[in-house]
Amino acid sequence: MSETTLHQLCRLYTNLKAEDIAILEKVADTLPQYAELTGNYMYIDCLLQSGDHGIVVAEALPRTPDAAYKDRVLGKLVFEAFEPAVLLCHKTGRKSLKHRAITQEGKVVEQSVIPIYNDSHEVIGTLIMEADRSEESSAPNGGTLPIKSMDMGPFSDNPMVADLLMEIIFMTDDQQRLVYANPSGIKFLHEIQGERDWVNQPVGHVLPFLEGLLHHKEEVFISEVLAGQRVLEVKKVHMRTKRNELEGLLFIIQDLTELRLKEKELLKKSVVIKEIHHRVKNNLQTVASLLRLQMRKGLSVESKSHFEDTLHRVYSISAVYELILANEDADQDDVDVIELTSKIGSTMMLNDLDHQIEFRVVSNGYTLLASSRKAVSIALIVNELVQNSLKHAFPHQAGTICVEFKVKQEFIEMHISDDGKGMEGYTRSLGLDIVRNLIVNDLEGEFVYKQVKKGTHASIIFPIHDEILVHSVSVHNRVGD
Ligand SMILES: Nc1ncnc2c1ncn2[C@@H]1O[C@H](COP(=O)(O)OP(=O)(O)OP(=O)(O)O)[C@@H](O)[C@H]1O
Ligand SMILES: [Mg+2]
Repeated sequence: MSETTLHQLCRLYTNLKAEDIAILEKVADTLPQYAELTGNYMYIDCLLQSGDHGIVVAEALPRTPDAAYKDRVLGKLVFEAFEPAVLLCHKTGRKSLKHRAITQEGKVVEQSVIPIYNDSHEVIGTLIMEADRSEESSAPNGGTLPIKSMDMGPFSDNPMVADLLMEIIFMTDDQQRLVYANPSGIKFLHEIQGERDWVNQPVGHVLPFLEGLLHHKEEVFISEVLAGQRVLEVKKVHMRTKRNELEGLLFIIQDLTELRLKEKELLKKSVVIKEIHHRVKNNLQTVASLLRLQMRKGLSVESKSHFEDTLHRVYSISAVYELILANEDADQDDVDVIELTSKIGSTMMLNDLDHQIEFRVVSNGYTLLASSRKAVSIALIVNELVQNSLKHAFPHQAGTICVEFKVKQEFIEMHISDDGKGMEGYTRSLGLDIVRNLIVNDLEGEFVYKQVKKGTHASIIFPIHDEILVHSVSVHNRVGD
């Protein structure tokens, strides 16, 4: 152990005076001999300036094969939550001998901690001796510490593994009297019943919400109970001696109050979202009714056709909300794009009495899920392009309109084609402007008309992202009627 390292670490990170550091250096000089003599790991820890954590300022490893693989910890911080015995010793001068602990590195060790004093009897550091016990304890029961070996008695000075756990832990004796609570348990007791003494009191009196669980005969019994405003998950375990006599009860309690509150909030939110979707859908239906009412008042042929176009646009947005509302999961507002396309197309075919059109949707086995926002854009695009085919492609009544989906690498392709008269020399109008705008600005994609022998083939390509996912691949193609 280099003298300067200890000196440097102490000077940089602790409040120790030069004479205190000199004392530590003397102790540190002897560490290698002790490590050698006992076959144990030796450390000196000091308290950081902040006083809340420690730091390893000296270490010595025995010359064993295991030690060769051990991580060096010199200069590392020692956190109270992981090594409570060390911090306790720093703060109170209390020693603890040969207690089991789990170190910050996750090793099970037998640890002894004693204080190092200066001439004024102040604790200036702790001397720690650790024997690796991980193999012993992992062999019989897969790495878990047997409860009995943790020395769970309430009056023991030694810190225990249970002290490190976040869960609330209580233990009773064979008469169901409370004999141990870990720090979380003590905090809980204070909150629930104030400063009253609980040691050796019947557990059912101290914690009445456990009363109902006491008569259950199962070795391990798990239940959710209410304690005032709190929701608790309680695990009750029978602890037995080697001769299988009941020695006491172990309660492991988790406070689920916050979790349950959050779940309730989420549920409320999803109900509200569903309600909003309902209102949007109803409002869209009102808009459609108003348009239809106006159309019945008698319009010029040209105006009528504009009204019809608008009506179709409203219908296609409404289809998105109908699908969301039909979804079983209240909090899911994902829309199945292929279902949406089938719905819009088939409604259009039903309303069109002038043509005999076969409408097909080819999914190629993909399921595409879009957020409601993106689904509205896709619905409008499908509406405009299928409507165009229906309106302009078939002067001779019959034909086929097909919407096909493909997925290539990171992109989704949507092909909308008909076998009609083709669109040579067309003049662009609002419909195609809407389409182009939505594809470029909302889907961040591209739109081209492909050259085809017969009819029109519009091809749209846009990237897969958070709001439009290829969810899964199924085997069948869906065909619109
Ligand atoms: N599938 C198609 N087959 C034949 N011609 C088409 C096809 N799609 C579009 N066209 C031609 O392109 C023109 C522009 O289409 P666009 O959708 O922009 O306008 P529109 O359908 O006439 O009116 P609206 O603005 O109501 O959609 C159409 O008027 C039509 O001549
Ligand atoms: Mg159009």
